[in-house]
Amino acid sequence: MSGTASRSVTITLDGSNKSSNLPLIQGTLGPAVADIRKLYADLGVFTYDPGYGATASCESKITYIDGDEGVLLYRGYPIEQLAEHSSFLEVCYLLQHGELPNAEQKDQFEKGVLRHTMLHEQIRQFYNGFRRDAHPMAVMCGVVGALSAFYHDSMDINDPAQRTISAFRLIAKVPTIAAWAHKYNVGQPFMYPRNDLSYAENFLYMFNAVPAEPYQVNPILARAMDLIMILHADHEQNASTSTVRLAGSTGANPFACIAAGIASLWGPAHGGANEAVLKMLQEIGHKSNIKEFLASVKDRNQHTRLMGFGHRVYKNYDPRAKIMQRTCHEVLGELGINDPLLDLAMEMEKIALSDPYFVDRKLYPNVDFYSGIILRAMGFPTSMFTALFAVSRTVGWISQWEEMVKDPQQRIGRPRQVYTGAARRDFVPLAERR
Ligand code: ACO
Repeated sequence: MSGTASRSVTITLDGSNKSSNLPLIQGTLGPAVADIRKLYADLGVFTYDPGYGATASCESKITYIDGDEGVLLYRGYPIEQLAEHSSFLEVCYLLQHGELPNAEQKDQFEKGVLRHTMLHEQIRQFYNGFRRDAHPMAVMCGVVGALSAFYHDSMDINDPAQRTISAFRLIAKVPTIAAWAHKYNVGQPFMYPRNDLSYAENFLYMFNAVPAEPYQVNPILARAMDLIMILHADHEQNASTSTVRLAGSTGANPFACIAAGIASLWGPAHGGANEAVLKMLQEIGHKSNIKEFLASVKDRNQHTRLMGFGHRVYKNYDPRAKIMQRTCHEVLGELGINDPLLDLAMEMEKIALSDPYFVDRKLYPNVDFYSGIILRAMGFPTSMFTALFAVSRTVGWISQWEEMVKDPQQRIGRPRQVYTGAARRDFVPLAERR
């Protein structure tokens, strides 16, 4: 542990003379954490924290969130500054290496990624095994996991050079995998990557182009795509990242771990929310229906959530949502699109943010509230939204995985439980069961 521990907390077990003095570790930013590792040895008790709301699962130097203030830092740099001045591949380098690259490092890194954009030709065959209407996230879970079968010679996780090449491969190949999932859905030929284009341009090219005619990447769309990727690149120990770390803690290979992360991202409470927001807005249909919809959200019996609102850590405006909302206006304006769903979303936000239900619970728009509207304006079908999130988050996952593999404190992730099932009992033969 590199955090400092000058204070401690003492826990005393009621009805006994036993106590445990636990060091309080202070990181660079954020609240101190009690190191409870010796609690069981001292007192014979575990801690109970479903959802891990009060548990730091690891030490990390990559991303910091201050949920009360609405702050997000990648390696110390505010997301607003990176969104304005940086590019996605530069942010990838920053997340992986801890520092912004100089000109030569940036050039080398970009070449390193772009050298690996093609998929093994045999992987094309995988797509034919899916139904035509396969959800792109289903395809991504399968195909990313299947990459493990192609790189047997370079998956030694204890070899830094092999870890580096796996990271390049993953970052470079996920856009191709996602774009081909779409091409398969719509029955168009797969477009091979073009390494003369930027990362975002190449993705738009593989997604939109067809061999029958030339395709010019729209610079407005390319910049918006790059920005969306920056905003989604990492977000500390969220569900999918923790999934990647947990899978990786067993020594599993990085392709399998990222496939696990993609599966975890898919759920509507996490990355699947961008798709769910758009469906929700379409169902609401008109501003006049907002009040009725919000009444159903507030009625516990209906189990309806305002998708794109709320966050485990942010109890303030998600800084990514602010940038996303502004970008949404810019992109729609520049493309000359007037989407009634944007007006509907803004009205919904206004009403929700002045409603005591949302105010009292500190529920604010998260990154997914506006991203779907931009992606729709850019021509992406709803089913691609979460796949795009996965493409952008791959760098965060692989950076966190690398950090975990190198962490001397790292052990297999293995939570405990409170067992509330049957106590020990003897087997009952079938004839004696009622
Ligand atoms: N709509 C209505 N009520 C909500 C919402 C919401 N979107 N989110 C939370 N609440 C309410 C809960 O019902 C609960 O109320 P209660 O105290 O009266 O029971 C309270 O706010 C706290 O909610 P929890 O579920 O305990 O909060 P948690 O931290 O576990 O969940 C989550 C966070 C999953 C993001 C939740 O806010 C949610 O489901 N939001 C909608 C889905 C979404 O937008 N997900 C994307 C998250 S960002 C990302 O992954 C990229």
